[in-house]
Amino acid sequence: MLRNLQLSGEKKITHTPRIVKIKQESIETVSMKSLYFEDELSAKSQPGQYLMIWIPGIDEIPMSISFMSDENQSAVTVRNVGLATNELFSMKTNQQIGLRGPYGKGFNIDNIENALIVAGGSGGVPLGPLSDLLRKKEIKFTCIIGAPVAEELLFLERHQLNAKAVGGIVLPITEDGSHGTIGLASEIAEKEIKKEEYDMIYTCGPEQMIKKIVDLGLDNSIPVQASLERIIKCGIGICGSCVLDSLRVCKDGPVFDGETIKNLKEFSVSKRDASGKKIPI
Ligand SMILES: Cc1cc2nc3c(=O)[nH]c(=O)nc-3n(C[C@H](O)[C@H](O)[C@H](O)COP(=O)(O)OP(=O)(O)OC[C@H]3O[C@@H](n4cnc5c(N)ncnc54)[C@H](O)[C@@H]3O)c2cc1C
Ligand code: FES
Repeated sequence: MLRNLQLSGEKKITHTPRIVKIKQESIETVSMKSLYFEDELSAKSQPGQYLMIWIPGIDEIPMSISFMSDENQSAVTVRNVGLATNELFSMKTNQQIGLRGPYGKGFNIDNIENALIVAGGSGGVPLGPLSDLLRKKEIKFTCIIGAPVAEELLFLERHQLNAKAVGGIVLPITEDGSHGTIGLASEIAEKEIKKEEYDMIYTCGPEQMIKKIVDLGLDNSIPVQASLERIIKCGIGICGSCVLDSLRVCKDGPVFDGETIKNLKEFSVSKRDASGKKIPI
């Protein structure tokens, strides 16, 4: 049986599954919904960390923590893409889910004065709590949010409120031009970094977009932190299902420095399916 483990220093991470009741649901986009619950460990986590969410009778899947409050409220924001996420998406207030974590390495905001956030589609979930934290710490940021269509722009109002509070702006961009500029998030990022001096780029989204942002940042001497996805099963570094070259996304990530991932053979090229077979991205 998994027990609570005392890790380095004061940091205590619980591996023991907890059962929580869904307290509130909130529709975020046409395909994404947030489920709020009370859990002290999740609420105290670092933006970019994730939970293993147990959907009784179905599966256990990794989900970024999308909201954290000082009152121990937390949330996950789900896109229904398969069996487990469909079930989670259809859950209602007062139903129960299991969770363990928070796991992994989140975003680091030490010594940052002017950041650029680049969020691509539904992958932008961990960037919601990051923008909340930047606002709380009074760190200026600009946020580029990309999506195929206006209805898929995730956390638009949340990023707008946060950015405005610290003197920053939000630049929405859609592939069909239904909101903001027409095009891709990476295209607007390329223009943006020539206009202002950024000391960090934070990104999450499709891996091909992340690759472009990492190259763009490093070519312009701006460090990048990127959150990546692989199949996560154990979440604690023992099963090998999430490997990316010699790194484990579950434990060494999911947030990595651009310098660390830029030369990996598998980054933006291949991933593993649920059976462990390598498949192209
Ligand atoms: C660190 C991390 C954070 C994530 N955060 C979110 C989030 O905030 N919101 C969200 O909607 N989704 C998130 N995901 C993706 C989510 O875990 C998968 O979409 C989910 O596991 C799919 O399960 P399924 O049964 O619904 O779909 P399936 O039918 O099993 O698969 C659908 C797709 O999801 C992928 N997938 C399946 N199982 C896993 C798994 N255990 N780990 C990762 N990918 C898997 C498959 O490769 C496939 O492409 C995150 C993934 C990771 C690794
Ligand atoms: S999910 Fe098991 S090692 Fe990463």
